[in-house]
Amino acid sequence: MKYVDFPGTKERISVIGLGTWVFGGENWGGADDRACVAAAGEALALGMNFIDTAPFYADGRSEELVGQAVKGQREKAFIATKCGLVRENGRVRHDLTPASVAREAEQSLRRMDCDVIDLYMCHWPDPATPVEKTMEAFLKLRAEKKIRHIGVSNFDLDLLKKACAVAPVATLEVQYSLLERGIESGLLPFCRDNGIGVIAYGALGGGILTGKYVKMPSFGKWDARRMFYHHFEGENLKKAQKLVKQMQAFDLPLNQVALSWVRQRPGVMTVLAGCRDVHQVRENAGAADFDLPDGFNVWSR
Ligand SMILES: NC(=O)c1ccc[n+]([C@@H]2O[C@H](COP(=O)([O-])OP(=O)(O)OC[C@H]3O[C@@H](n4cnc5c(N)ncnc54)[C@H](OP(=O)(O)O)[C@@H]3O)[C@@H](O)[C@H]2O)c1
Repeated sequence: MKYVDFPGTKERISVIGLGTWVFGGENWGGADDRACVAAAGEALALGMNFIDTAPFYADGRSEELVGQAVKGQREKAFIATKCGLVRENGRVRHDLTPASVAREAEQSLRRMDCDVIDLYMCHWPDPATPVEKTMEAFLKLRAEKKIRHIGVSNFDLDLLKKACAVAPVATLEVQYSLLERGIESGLLPFCRDNGIGVIAYGALGGGILTGKYVKMPSFGKWDARRMFYHHFEGENLKKAQKLVKQMQAFDLPLNQVALSWVRQRPGVMTVLAGCRDVHQVRENAGAADFDLPDGFNVWSR
């Protein structure tokens, strides 16, 4: 595994991180709990210390499974979790009010059976709450030693700047892949210039960049590959398939090409790979072992 310094510290963070949205299986057509716990254990064994989870993932089940996996080896893991998507009566609402942030942090600590969250992030913006108020709540949690570092996710540039004016925002988690390059025009250079580490999610395009979809399955209504990753539809699907063909021209596993390409973009701190079992963890961890030569940068603008 390769490591980078967490922004502003000497803490070493793996360049490939474990994504755990699939844990609990809710939006990914089911998942096996034991296989997920084993996947996280294998990630730690391979030195993949950055683990990303959220209360939203299977309504807290992902955090519980992460907690089980790190039991007895908490010091090996750097755990990132989030707040701001709150479930109520079967619906999800945005809530980054200070009271809700404080409540969610307690719930996450309890689910993971941990004393502290290494990186705490706003999952998505809450248009009804001034970000300054949210950041003050994060600073309070940090002063109480319930969280160690502050991050945000899915913020646009204006909101990120507002958050940075109030709190030391160490990281921005955003979608970034060969198929989704929107951050290159503003967010990525801003983060690079300001020492904010970018955590890239969706680098496998929800799985489509692994090249395994010869025939498209029909996903359920709430499956992430239908409601979140739109690379599986219409014109986007054609674009994804074309890209996969280009990637096949090189003699490397496609999942590793997709992850390495994102990992090598300047400003990216860690690339998350969603994994449901030890097999996927091992395959994805391999993306840290080599650098794509310049010739691989055929998709760069
Ligand atoms: N902050 C946010 O708003 C946000 C949003 C999305 C994701 N995230 C985080 O980022 C992580 C990564 O994103 P993601 O999981 O949504 O998507 P992803 O990493 O692009 O794709 C993950 C999916 O790809 C498939 N896959 C993984 N490794 C594979 C391999 N070696 N070979 C073949 N297929 C493989 C698996 O699906 P199957 O086995 O089901 O095919 C897996 O669930 C998430 O788990 C989550 O922690 C954060």
